[in-house]
Amino acid sequence: MEERNSKSPRRSFGRRAEDVGQETPDAAPEQASSAPRPPASQPVVEFRGVHLSYPGGTTGLDGATFAVERGEFVFLVGQTGSGKSTVMRLLTKEIDATSGTVRVAGRDLGAIDRKKVPFYRRNVGVVFQDFKLLPNRTVYDNVAYALLVTGHSRKEIRRRVPDILRLTGLATKLHSYPDQLSGGEQQRVSIARAFVNHPPLLLADEPTGNLDPETSIGIMQLLYRINRTGSTVLVATHDHSMVDRMRRRVIELENGLIVRDEATGLYARDENTREFAARMRGDDEEGGGL
Ligand SMILES: Nc1ncnc2c1ncn2[C@@H]1O[C@H](COP(=O)(O)OP(=O)(O)O)[C@@H](O)[C@H]1O
Ligand SMILES: [Mg+2]
Repeated sequence: MEERNSKSPRRSFGRRAEDVGQETPDAAPEQASSAPRPPASQPVVEFRGVHLSYPGGTTGLDGATFAVERGEFVFLVGQTGSGKSTVMRLLTKEIDATSGTVRVAGRDLGAIDRKKVPFYRRNVGVVFQDFKLLPNRTVYDNVAYALLVTGHSRKEIRRRVPDILRLTGLATKLHSYPDQLSGGEQQRVSIARAFVNHPPLLLADEPTGNLDPETSIGIMQLLYRINRTGSTVLVATHDHSMVDRMRRRVIELENGLIVRDEATGLYARDENTREFAARMRGDDEEGGGL
């Protein structure tokens, strides 16, 4: 009954000093002049001359340089085999760059100790084409699990899971199992799970690859809504019609090389979700009411 451990040493999100290792301006007695946190202008993602060779010699990336600023929504496009997933795998530190530097929020991923990788990953939400849900767990438990493994209390979990499921349009599906859901609903669960920790960076690798066009629009809208809450979102896709509709920044890869980087949709940056949704439905196509 009594909540005894009211001040339990909860594992804080992004434990600083011990996780960041040498990158942290170490426990300086005073923070005399420079602020301990990275400046707001620091890119969330920064690739500098990144090469990636897979074992066996296949080139995954061939010298990629780009940066993604905080709050951006970016599409990574290109044919199968062009290197999109390689970018994602580098960002989750599933693989390490063969040469060049990958930084996330200023942190050089190559310098993170293997043992610290799970802590790093708390800051990166990932959504996959094939959802990767736990088949024997309900929607609620699939999302709760993500909080459990990041050390949240049961109380916190009970508060947060229904919230996120409402946000993702799953309020009535709490007790369903993945195989009782449509593909679009399963993808919503996986987005809820990726986002429930409010990671500053959300990666989606072909999130609509298994979905029909209509369902895909809903999923992209959801990712966009998440972006509007402040998360930086990087979406790998080869869905051209979707990219054209969204009018966001597009980075195109070809054989591991960046061949295009266009701020396609910049003019639309300030529209709100409702305006965006209207455009996604095509309401403005005849020049109506903007
Ligand atoms: N685990 C792997 N081992 C060897 N080669 C790989 C591996 N994963 C990807 N590749 C190769 O790296 C290149 C880029 O792949 P990938 O990043 O998965 O492309 P995309 O996601 O754009 O389809 C391709 O030539 C692919 O065959
Ligand atoms: Mg891929």
